[in-house]
Amino acid sequence: MKNFEVYKLWPIEPVKAKGCKVWDKNGTEYLDLYGGHAVISIGHGHPVYNDMIKEQLEKICFYSNSVQNSLQEELAERLGRVSGYPDYSLFLCNSGAEANENALKLASFSNGKKRVIAFEGAFHGRTSGAVAVTDNKNIVSPFNSGHEVTFVPLNNLDAVEKELAKDDCAAVIIEGIQGVAGIYMPTDKFLQGLRELTIKYGVALILDEVQSGYCRSGKFFAHQHSGIKPDIITTAKGMGNGFPIGGVLISPSFKPKQGMLGTTFGGNHLACTAAIAVLKVIEEESLINKAAEFGEYIISELNKIKSGTGSKAIADIRGIGLMIGIEMESDFIKVRDKLLFEDKIFTGGAKSNIIRLLPPLTITRGEIDHFLTCFKKSI
Ligand SMILES: Cc1ncc(COP(=O)(O)O)c(C=O)c1O
Repeated sequence: MKNFEVYKLWPIEPVKAKGCKVWDKNGTEYLDLYGGHAVISIGHGHPVYNDMIKEQLEKICFYSNSVQNSLQEELAERLGRVSGYPDYSLFLCNSGAEANENALKLASFSNGKKRVIAFEGAFHGRTSGAVAVTDNKNIVSPFNSGHEVTFVPLNNLDAVEKELAKDDCAAVIIEGIQGVAGIYMPTDKFLQGLRELTIKYGVALILDEVQSGYCRSGKFFAHQHSGIKPDIITTAKGMGNGFPIGGVLISPSFKPKQGMLGTTFGGNHLACTAAIAVLKVIEEESLINKAAEFGEYIISELNKIKSGTGSKAIADIRGIGLMIGIEMESDFIKVRDKLLFEDKIFTGGAKSNIIRLLPPLTITRGEIDHFLTCFKKSI
């Protein structure tokens, strides 16, 4: 058997990783400003994380959700405290798509309606409902296309209200910061207005923080810059630092009913241990503040480059914290390849001309400066 070839692969095979560095099978060192797609939050191979997982491995890795598991309680308590949502409940699952699928289901269970409002450019995953609320026709199969979904432009409250007024919506789903689209931010005013409208029309507001959450934006969740509190928040990627885990944070207004949601693997002992280790390191190393501070530094240095030597190369710089998009002018779309193959720096991409910086939150000032020097040289 061979693998089903659905991924475009770079000709590089990482075999070892530590902090913000990865090494390929030839021993070549790479700087990781991609974090394996925003997944590596506390750095590769963090000793606290490794030790806690090894210790748990020797005890018990898995048992089903039909028995008690105090690691789930410890994780929920810690996540509630660190994220600023101590009164919300946590449903554990295995991925970002699954978190969104459950969030949409919960919203629909709650008000009995089924249409969902999503945003142009949105990406929410590849399972049935999650892909239906994703704005990319190429990945929606006929099987998925039966969901009732309306896409409206980001940052346009009138367009949202026009749809909500039809009184048939279960939810509005929005990314804290649009990642796959190329780092587009909802404005604070828009999120505040969205919160008011969803309350007015009795529709659940779901914040997809799968990519923008876990401190990446310089707050625990990106929407916290606007001061709003959604009804449901979804999380995954940085939550397990590479161990598959997703979570749905649910406001106290939703009442659980036995059997309404469920999963075999979600919340297993190893996944909970990985997620507890991540939160422990986030607190001990003040990674929220670090993401905010280093993000400001990178963005201000990039803006200096843009207004100087890079004025012909850089079209736009967007983002906040360590979730940054650099939109290149059309003659400079090869810069990302140059960074990877010549300077040995992994970055993320979007469309053909946007470079996404999604480094581990433990990145050092020296590593950032190395990137800035290489980036400046490459344009
Ligand atoms: C905002 C957002 N939501 C959901 C997902 C899907 O997550 P997963 O691939 O873990 O299912 C992604 C993945 O890139 C994402 O960026």
